[in-house]
Amino acid sequence: MKLETARLILRDAVMADLDNLHRLLSDQANMYYLDDVATRTLGESEANLRHAMLNDDGHYFCIERKEDRAYIGQVGYTITDVTPCGKIVHMGYFILPEQQGRGYTTEAVGRAVRYAFEEDGCVRITTGCYADNKASERVMIKSGFLREGLHKKAQYHDGIMKDRLSYAINKDDYAAR
Ligand SMILES: CC(C)(COP(=O)(O)OP(=O)(O)OC[C@H]1O[C@@H](n2cnc3c(N)ncnc32)[C@H](O)[C@@H]1OP(=O)(O)O)[C@@H](O)C(=O)NCCC(=O)NCCS
Repeated sequence: MKLETARLILRDAVMADLDNLHRLLSDQANMYYLDDVATRTLGESEANLRHAMLNDDGHYFCIERKEDRAYIGQVGYTITDVTPCGKIVHMGYFILPEQQGRGYTTEAVGRAVRYAFEEDGCVRITTGCYADNKASERVMIKSGFLREGLHKKAQYHDGIMKDRLSYAINKDDYAAR
């Protein structure tokens, strides 16, 4: 599986991605808001990679820059429900610190959303973040997700109960854009 945007390639993960993925997942500062995904050992990162390679409960893409094939990060989604109308999935993304602030995530999310709706039988994509993760919320807004909820003091994080935001986009709204 290989998808393209103007600057990026979204492709299935391979074992050769392990070093880059481990560099990304084990950077505790960068993964501050995703401490449930962050890893501490190469073995944990390998388990994450092997799961991503299976693509049996969603679709997980490595993001690569076309120009020099540099590894940028990850975007993907997990199936949360299978309905007679299609799949409902939950999307997530994280990229290397040195690649942030260039619009790469928004570009990659846009392509992954298109793939989900047009090629992978999805009818609804949800996502969400802590309310203080402003960069992530901005990606959601720029990618066409609509805010569906503010969950006050909904999740424990870094010593306190934090607000969470939920965003979603439905296939009908996407098609009508
Ligand atoms: C969230 C993340 C994926 C964004 O990646 P990115 O490639 O920098 O995203 P983009 O460049 O496409 O867009 C980022 C937007 O957030 C904005 N932004 C960045 N930091 C911000 C802040 N502190 N406050 C407000 N906006 C901010 C940028 O200005 C940009 O918006 P703009 O285009 O309107 O200027 C990246 O920061 C990351 O990997 N963070 C760590 C993992 C994570 O938190 N993932 C999301 C979990 S829900």
